[in-house]
Amino acid sequence: MTVSHKPTTAATEASSDTATQSPAERSRALRDTLGQFATGVTVITTLDTAGQPVGMTVNSFNSVSLDPALILWSIDRSSLSYTAFTECERFAVHVLKGDQQHVSNLFAGRGADKFGQVKWHSGPGGIPQLDDCAALFHCRRTQNIEGGDHTILLAEVLEFAASGGEPLVFHRGRYRALAGE
Ligand SMILES: Cc1cc2nc3c(=O)[nH]c(=O)nc-3n(C[C@H](O)[C@H](O)[C@H](O)COP(=O)(O)O)c2cc1C
Repeated sequence: MTVSHKPTTAATEASSDTATQSPAERSRALRDTLGQFATGVTVITTLDTAGQPVGMTVNSFNSVSLDPALILWSIDRSSLSYTAFTECERFAVHVLKGDQQHVSNLFAGRGADKFGQVKWHSGPGGIPQLDDCAALFHCRRTQNIEGGDHTILLAEVLEFAASGGEPLVFHRGRYRALAGE
């Protein structure tokens, strides 16, 4: 049987076509195509060098290794929180629940007063910890890896806990609910 690897009609809403696309159009098409990959949504928090809480919404979070326990995520070089995260010793990853879209929107705001509008406390190492989430990972940053306009942060998981519940899902630029089992 011959298997075709050509994109189907359904998959060609966005595509790479250097002959007709401007760099901006190609970038938009790449973004749209990457957006087909559904992810969970996290809020990642740390302290800046002045000891102020810092946090941002992140969906590039992923598992790397079980032994040793490693995770990664990538941060845009233009984020206001860039220096805080790329130089911190520790950070906390909060996996959001399905009903926490407002928390995702809050922490996706640029430099907004994010911590005045959610319940949180100081967790291990003084790192800000949101009071409610589906899962929590306290991490020690181990490596920064340059990745174009982002920097990949690799980290060791020190502590973790899960409270379960339906997760918040992000797909094609929108929040979604998980389809029933
Ligand atoms: C669902 C979602 C996922 C996001 N994932 C990331 C990510 O993985 N990395 C990143 O740098 N920004 C990501 N962002 C954008 C940041 O949350 C946003 O730029 C935020 O304003 C950064 O805050 P800051 O500029 O105050 O540091 C995401 C935003 C949303 C809504």
